[in-house]
Amino acid sequence: MTLHPRYARITGTGSYLPPRHVTNHALAAELAERGIETSHEWIVERTGIHARHFADPGVNSSDLGLQACQQALQAAGLQAQDIDLIIVATSTPDMVFPSTAAILQHKLGITNGCPVFDVQAVCSGFVYALTVADAMIRAGTARRALVVGAEVFSRILNFEDRTTCVLFGDGAGAVVLEASDEPGILASDLHADGSHVGILCVPGHVSGGKVLGSPLLTMDGQAVFKLAVGVLEKAARATLDKAGLQEQDIDWLVPHQANIRIMQSTARKLRLPMEKVIVTVQDHGNTSAASIPLALDHGVRSGQVQKGQTVLLEGVGGGFTWGAVLLKM
Ligand code: ACO
Repeated sequence: MTLHPRYARITGTGSYLPPRHVTNHALAAELAERGIETSHEWIVERTGIHARHFADPGVNSSDLGLQACQQALQAAGLQAQDIDLIIVATSTPDMVFPSTAAILQHKLGITNGCPVFDVQAVCSGFVYALTVADAMIRAGTARRALVVGAEVFSRILNFEDRTTCVLFGDGAGAVVLEASDEPGILASDLHADGSHVGILCVPGHVSGGKVLGSPLLTMDGQAVFKLAVGVLEKAARATLDKAGLQEQDIDWLVPHQANIRIMQSTARKLRLPMEKVIVTVQDHGNTSAASIPLALDHGVRSGQVQKGQTVLLEGVGGGFTWGAVLLKM
């Protein structure tokens, strides 16, 4: 009889931002050349974003993911060959197929035949991927997983649309999730409502050798904002209930980094001071599925998030999808 582990626990984190750092001032100047008007002040006031990173042409999600995975493996004290599952959350895959996870497996030099696949839940992708990896580890299907969020959103931005192109950036974050008898992931809560597909989407698709429909991101920002603040509070409370914990038991909230106002509103509803919220949106912009693992790694490497602490991750994004994961570091 196989004894299944009680928990899956994060034993290492890593992240990577491509070197091209684009400030609001630089982006505003680039947009001005196209006749599009925006300003540092507008972007900061509405979003909290000061800068973002953009990948150079030819650099793909798997390349950013590779760097993040190497850091996470090092932090966990593991070799790539020790990994027996890779899940990549991305909405900007390298190819239509195969999965970015398969490409990443090869770039990591993993030849042990472990299962790999992508998860597509847009900005909620990382909490979805982490929940799936947790379930697979507790079911005994895997023991050491790499769970990755990697995005090159700059490829799908419409630089003629100032309401969206100022919001997003590129990057990757990764965690090593291992079978453990010590508490790790305590509870998860995932949801989706496909009736909201149209408020945030990239509607194009490949057909007959052409892209049919627009391959660029389109969003109704105000509709997204309203939906996001409501569902994030519910998901947070549901995970706390499942784990038998209270708001005050949370040491750190690591939310999806879309907009400082959404984060402030969620923190207020959960009665958490902003000192307990990891915020990276000012430097990263919204990196979609990469934003939560990027922020978590930032919290760990800055010495804020420490072993044994209780952390709530939560994401919301296109689909509409949303969810939260409560865990002990
Ligand atoms: N620069 C200058 N002016 C701008 C810009 C810009 N980049 N973008 C829009 N404006 C103008 C608009 O044209 C409008 O002008 P008008 O009043 O003359 O018509 C004015 O600013 C106000 O526009 P609104 O859309 O009402 O601005 P709002 O306060 O709603 O802020 C924003 C827009 C930031 C997109 C906000 O709605 C938001 O944060 N929504 C959440 C969306 C989000 O974060 N999505 C990320 C992806 S989903 C996810 O990750 C959860």
